[in-house]
Amino acid sequence: MTVLVTGGAGFIGANFIFYWLRTHPGDRVVCVDRLTYAGNLSTLTEVLERPEFRFVRADIQDREAMDRLFGEEHPDVVVNFAAESHVDRSIEDPEIFLRTNVMGTAVLLDLCRKYKTSRFHQVSTDEVYGDLPLDRTDLRFTEETPLRASSPYSASKASADLLTLACWRTYGQPVTVSRCSNNYGPFQFPEKLIPLMIANALQDKTLPVYGTGRNVRDWLYVEDHCRAIDVILEKGRLGEVYNIGGDHEMENIALVRRICQELGRPESRIAYVTDRKGHDLRYGIDAGKLRQELGWRPAVSFDEGLRQTIRWYLEHRSWWENIVSGEYRDYYEKMYGGR
Ligand code: NAD
Ligand code: TYD
Repeated sequence: MTVLVTGGAGFIGANFIFYWLRTHPGDRVVCVDRLTYAGNLSTLTEVLERPEFRFVRADIQDREAMDRLFGEEHPDVVVNFAAESHVDRSIEDPEIFLRTNVMGTAVLLDLCRKYKTSRFHQVSTDEVYGDLPLDRTDLRFTEETPLRASSPYSASKASADLLTLACWRTYGQPVTVSRCSNNYGPFQFPEKLIPLMIANALQDKTLPVYGTGRNVRDWLYVEDHCRAIDVILEKGRLGEVYNIGGDHEMENIALVRRICQELGRPESRIAYVTDRKGHDLRYGIDAGKLRQELGWRPAVSFDEGLRQTIRWYLEHRSWWENIVSGEYRDYYEKMYGGR
């Protein structure tokens, strides 16, 4: 079987490629990635030379390039990770989010129809549901919760989900959608909360917590997300949405304190900074459908996953230091300079 993974030079896509090659020997994996600021070919070093793996640098919005690739590879399955993925960037500049996340998905769906691909899987996010109030811990997102996206990022992801599901209804196209909570693990770009805090702590920089730090996120170790997608590809019902969650909600401030503790850094490094515009209060995800229908549950506890992640950033300093010292710095200055 040939699996086309888009966005595979990014955090979750790369982890998915490693996972797939390990657990599905004999399958061919083709990765297409535009290598934006968030894509890093060095992440894929360990698989680049393997005969069953192919990397293609291309933009998923580029219909001609994608048509050529589909014609060459005739993928059985397409898993669409490629996206602009950072909320703060979407607040600064929404357009690229619509181009990649919506138009890019549209191109892939068209080609999957043209080449009769057996499955298109859209990797989505719990952020499409908007947020939940902090004082209603009884509420959680189910697959039936109405979409109420707050940021340009989540609005673009919600649009892509709707288009994917519309293709099922209109053309009977074989699709599935998964909506996952916040991931963490190796190779996450150090603009997201956990790797940013680890990298800053290791460089003895301040740890910038937005607003009150009371916002709540649900955390899932990246490999558990990869396994959930595998289970959905294998046993999921076509045209269905599956929530994926870690059942581990935490206030941001508690998480940052925990990272200080693990790294032996003083909490005095924490600095409360201006809040994110439209900052979602709480994400709480009910993954009961995936658990009951398909038998998936997280295998890695938060304690274990966080320790492994911290160890990985300690042992792979050059991976993130290259990022921190490069183009990323300008972006960082822009986001945090006057904050
Ligand atoms: P990431 O930003 O680390 O990686 C995105 C990858 O997509 C990069 O390699 C980038 O170069 C590539 N890309 C961007 N635009 C492209 C284009 N036009 N054509 C081809 N490639 C392009 O993101 P991530 O955290 O790995 O997230 C992957 C997917 O999972 C996204 O769709 C995201 O919405 C979703 N998701 C992420 C999380 C999370 O916590 N990170 C949670 C739920 C869902
Ligand atoms: P992030 O990793 O950007 O993921 P998302 O916004 O998609 O959930 O942020 C996670 C939470 O951490 C979110 O509530 C914003 C907060 N945050 C900070 O407090 N400081 C930071 O420097 C960053 C990047 C995020």
